[in-house]
Amino acid sequence: MIVSDLRSAAAAAQANAYAPYSGFRVGAALETGSGAVIVGCNVENGSYGMTLCAERNALAAAVAQGHQDFKRLGLVSDAPTPISPCGACRQVLAEFAPDMVVESWGAEGGTEQWTVRELLPAAFERPTK
Ligand code: THU
Repeated sequence: MIVSDLRSAAAAAQANAYAPYSGFRVGAALETGSGAVIVGCNVENGSYGMTLCAERNALAAAVAQGHQDFKRLGLVSDAPTPISPCGACRQVLAEFAPDMVVESWGAEGGTEQWTVRELLPAAFERPTK
């Protein structure tokens, strides 16, 4: 999968965002190790705190479809410049893919790229007994 395809997949998901409260639409596209692309969008709720971010929705959908190996995450939003995932999403992404590359595109151009580890150094890891 080439980068522009990941961006297109994220943009297609963004068009399905349910964001009547913030008006801020986000689309995410995960590329798996096997080359599959799984998308997510933000889904807001009248009980604001129940809002689901695009990144976590994409990850949950991918896991439900049997994927746990992720290479890249593409992000698009209504922000003019590239957004980076919120702290909660960083922790959830780190569970599966600390080395995954996150690439984000701004609505008015520009792109930024990080690894999940760069976004969340010293992520919490569940202690094993
Ligand atoms: N949002 C995401 O989906 N992903 C992010 O990385 C940042 C924020 C959503 C949550 C909410 O629906 C809207 O954007 C405004 O915060």
